[in-house]
Amino acid sequence: MPSSGIRVFFDLVLGMKDVISLGVGEPDFVTPWNIRERAIYALEEGCTSYTSNKGLIELRREISKYLKRKYGLDYDPEEEILITVGVSEAFDLSLRAVVDRGSSVLIPEPAYVSYGPITMLCGGKPVPIQTSPESGFKVTPEDIKRSCDKKTKAMILNYPNNPTGASYSKSELKAIADVIARRDLIMISDEIYCDLTYDFEHTPFATLPRMRERTIYLNGFSKSFAMTGWRIGYACGPARLIAGMTKIHQYTMLCASIISQMAAQEALKNGERSLQEMKREYRRRREFVVSRLNEIGLPCHKPEGAFYAFPSVKKTGLSSMDFSNGLLKKEKVAVVPGTAFGPLGEGYLRISYASAYDKLKEAFLRMERFIKSIP
Ligand SMILES: Cc1ncc(COP(=O)(O)O)c(C=O)c1O
Repeated sequence: MPSSGIRVFFDLVLGMKDVISLGVGEPDFVTPWNIRERAIYALEEGCTSYTSNKGLIELRREISKYLKRKYGLDYDPEEEILITVGVSEAFDLSLRAVVDRGSSVLIPEPAYVSYGPITMLCGGKPVPIQTSPESGFKVTPEDIKRSCDKKTKAMILNYPNNPTGASYSKSELKAIADVIARRDLIMISDEIYCDLTYDFEHTPFATLPRMRERTIYLNGFSKSFAMTGWRIGYACGPARLIAGMTKIHQYTMLCASIISQMAAQEALKNGERSLQEMKREYRRRREFVVSRLNEIGLPCHKPEGAFYAFPSVKKTGLSSMDFSNGLLKKEKVAVVPGTAFGPLGEGYLRISYASAYDKLKEAFLRMERFIKSIP
């Protein structure tokens, strides 16, 4: 199994001075103060124990209320919600619970780096579905039908998407849901960037007709509340699937950190204002990044969500890797070659705008200089 393409590239960055990194998918904000304060208080109170395997019931109740309030989604906190060590663990558990040896999993590409390798670890076969700029990097019902066979067990959908920033309207999702039901597939829906949807309301896959019983809904705190280091996320789904995932979780992870769980409760109760402030800033940066990219000759569609732009470098005549390496060596700006997200990412870069506005401005001056220097 190959190492993550993002990590390989960032090993190069380590040790270099004055690099502006637009590489990592991590908010540049620190976790809002009220959330940090809750964790400090939890420690002062002596909350240092394990929790139940499924996670604190108070947090599961809070998640249940939050999803009901926000999307009208109904999950029973006793049986249908599992607290995990980030969406990373929730995703791993979903695949381990669902995938049988030899069964295949549909993965629209370019895709987040762990989907393919974790599918393989579970003995499954990743089946990439190519998306293109013409379709806004979105998968269509026809693509899904074409890629299905008797062994197809599940599909992974991530929206807003890492690395392309693409997202789906309700009607686009309905058309996908129809195929998922007809082909009797399970949908593993990674909605970690749901709160960073800029142009329309986010629609959770599980809210679509007949999808609740066949969807594992994954979400977490890393992106919405700038809590990457807390390692906390959750999975919601039908009781039989959550029970299977809980069995694996109890042997491998036991439970997520109690301190992070208490902080997460505070995020859901009182974090909305901070979330909206961060979102406003990401939106401002998105406008700047997309207009600068198009200005300097790297065509880029407008991302509908998350904090990534996915411009094409094809016009420069360089491959994704040569462009990224050259930019790093000559101008000390780190971006991720599109190929880190699958071979279908060739010709593209992933640029994270979870970086301060001033740094973005400087990075684009350097990038423009680099492009002009290409023979
Ligand atoms: C699409 C996607 N899913 C999952 C994760 C992992 O998130 P977590 O920090 O909750 O493990 C990331 C992190 O970058 C991501 O981009």
